[in-house]
Parts: sequence; C-alpha cells; structure tokens
Amino acid sequence: MRWLISFVLLALVVGALGLWLTRPGTDGPEVLAGLTPDETHGETVFIAAGCASCHMAKGASGEGKLVLTGGQSFPSPFGTFKAPNISTSPQAGIGDWAAIDMWNALHHGTSPEGAHYYPALPYGAYIRMTPQDVVDLHAYMMTLPADETPSQAHDLSFPFSIRASVGAWKALFLRDDWVMTGDLDDQLLRGREIVEGLGHCAECHTPRNALGGLKTGSDWLTGAPNPAGRGTFPDLVELDWSEGELVEYFTSGFTPEFDSAGGHMALVVENLAALPVEDREAVAAYIAALPVE
Ligand code: HEC
Ligand code: HEC
Repeated sequence: MRWLISFVLLALVVGALGLWLTRPGTDGPEVLAGLTPDETHGETVFIAAGCASCHMAKGASGEGKLVLTGGQSFPSPFGTFKAPNISTSPQAGIGDWAAIDMWNALHHGTSPEGAHYYPALPYGAYIRMTPQDVVDLHAYMMTLPADETPSQAHDLSFPFSIRASVGAWKALFLRDDWVMTGDLDDQLLRGREIVEGLGHCAECHTPRNALGGLKTGSDWLTGAPNPAGRGTFPDLVELDWSEGELVEYFTSGFTPEFDSAGGHMALVVENLAALPVEDREAVAAYIAALPVE
C-alpha cells in the first residue's frame, strides 16, 4: 500500500509542478504604456491578420464581414473548434476588453480570466505583432458593430478538452523569434512581418508534427494536408511563379494558368487584395526568397 500512496503523491507533485511551469503567461498594462492608438493602421492590421475571415458569420460578405459574431467551425485532429463572438457586445463579445486583454490573448494566448486559449486562435503567429499593432487593432475593433449571438462550445476529445493541456503545447512550440533570418532588406522585413506574423500563412502551408507544432527549417511553408480532410495546402517553396505572378494572384486570385484561388485561400486573397500593393509585393518577395536556412 505504501508504495502506491507514495506513487500517487509523486504523480500529484509532478502534475502540479507541470501545471505551474506551464501556467498561462500575461503582461501588465506597462507593455502598452505611452502608445497612442491609430485606428487607420489598426484596420490594416485587422485585414492583414484575417480576423474577420474566422470570426464573421460563415459566408458573410461586404459590411457583414465586420460583424464578428463567430460560429464558424474549424476541424482539427483534436476535435472541432468554434470561433467565438468577438464583436463589441460587452456580454456576448469582447466590448469590455482593454487593449492589454487583446495583447495577452494575441501574444500569450491567455484570456482575461487567466486561462489558456487554444492555438486554433493563431497566436503562434500573432505573437510576432508589436505592442503598437495590438493597440491600433484594439482601437479599430472597438469601432465595429455589436452582436448578441452567444459563442458556442468547442467539440474536443479528451485530454484536449482540458484547457490546461495547452500549457504543454505552448512550452514546446510557442516561440516569438523569426523563421527567415539573415540580412533582409526593408521589403523582405515587411514580407516576413505579414507571412510569419499577421497573415499566419504557415498555419496552413507548413506541415505539423504529431503534437500539432509547426515544423520549421527545411519544412517551413512546404505544404501540408488539410485537417478538414479535403485536399492539401500547396507547397510555397517549390512554387515557381514569378514575383509578378504572385502579386497578380494576391490581387485578383488568378494563377498563371488562370485558375482562381479556392477554399480558404479565397478569403486570404480578399484580405491581401485590400492591402496596399507594396504589401503584396513584399509577400511575393518573401515567397521568392524561400527556402529559409
Ligand atoms: C484561423 C481562425 C482564427 C483567426 C484567423 C483568428 N481567430 Fe480569434 N479565435 C479563433 C478561435 C477558434 C478562438 C477560440 C479559442 C479558444 O477558445 O481557446 C478564437 C478566440 C479569440 C478571442 C477570445 C475571445 C473570448 O471570448 O475569449 C479573441 C479576442 C480573438 N479570437 C480575436 C482575434 C483577432 C483580433 C484576430 C485577428 C488578429 C483573430 N482572433 C483571428 C479563431 C481565429
Ligand atoms: C486557412 C488556410 C490558408 C492560409 C492561412 C493561407 N493559405 Fe495560401 N492556400 C491555401 C489553400 C487551400 C490553397 C489552394 C487554393 C486552391 O487550390 O485554389 C492556397 C494557395 C496558395 C498559393 C497558390 C499556390 C498554388 O500552388 O496554387 C499561394 C501563393 C499562397 N496560398 C500563399 C499564401 C500566403 C502568402 C498566405 C499568407 C498571407 C497564405 N497563403 C495563407 C490555404 C491557406
């Protein structure tokens, strides 16, 4: 009996230590101190980051895309995630959030109550946003309409249904360093900011390991199976389109063979097309510069 009691006690200590080591991270308001919000830049961040693509009602278009009512489903090997309401309703959405709450959600994947968010909210990429980006984004989002539709629960299998399990994932995979490094000019720096950060391109275009972490190095942006089970996300390293052809695709959705962008990529193209052309050129330059070391 005694060894069993010791074993259970040891397991409890190890478990508690693990939870403590992987507890949700947060920053205090001082990280955003002294920053003046710029709503116009916030709109650019919102578009480049594709927040509406996931948080609008399924199939919304035009002004309807700005009603961040939630409800779209995102299948994964761990179960199905439902995007929550992030409209300005204080009850159903995030109308009562301060900029620091947004920072902690997008940078640390931590809720105002101090719980882990699932990386289905792509903070693994948004972690690279600057404090100014987040302050501007928050100010812009507070100008959007309120919607009272309640958020739906996710449908996840055990143990992923336990939010604390995300702590281990973060400890293993959440990194804020850049993947493309070296001597990059201003255009490549902007391209990197969009591809690796705001545009979270790797979330779809990079293969994952068994625990759902993105592979880096020579696997970065080499394509991946679609977790929804249909088709694959194409390899961007092998792609032999010219920078001009890439910019055309990001503007009109047309490939050099005159196919048009389909599936999730159609929404990404809509967002890229709404950015200044210099941003699309920067993304094209980044893709042309692949593979990363
Ligand atoms: C790929 C789809 C996707 C994209 C893109 C996305 N989100 Fe989300 N977001 C989610 C999912 C799924 C959750 C639920 C996470 C959870 O419950 O742990 C979420 C949760 C959130 C939450 C927490 C809401 C709450 O009630 O606690 C906020 C805030 C949020 N997202 C804001 C944003 C912003 C701002 C952007 C753009 C910068 C964005 N999201 C982009 C899918 C997405
Ligand atoms: C939500 C998933 C998703 C995200 C995020 C995403 N893509 Fe895609 N991408 C796709 C899919 C799916 C296709 C294939 C579209 C098709 O077959 O029409 C695609 C196609 C492409 C293509 C054309 C490649 C080819 O062989 O046809 C390029 C280039 C591309 N994406 C670049 C990007 C860039 C740059 C970003 C980030 C700004 C990005 N993608 C973000 C899913 C995504």
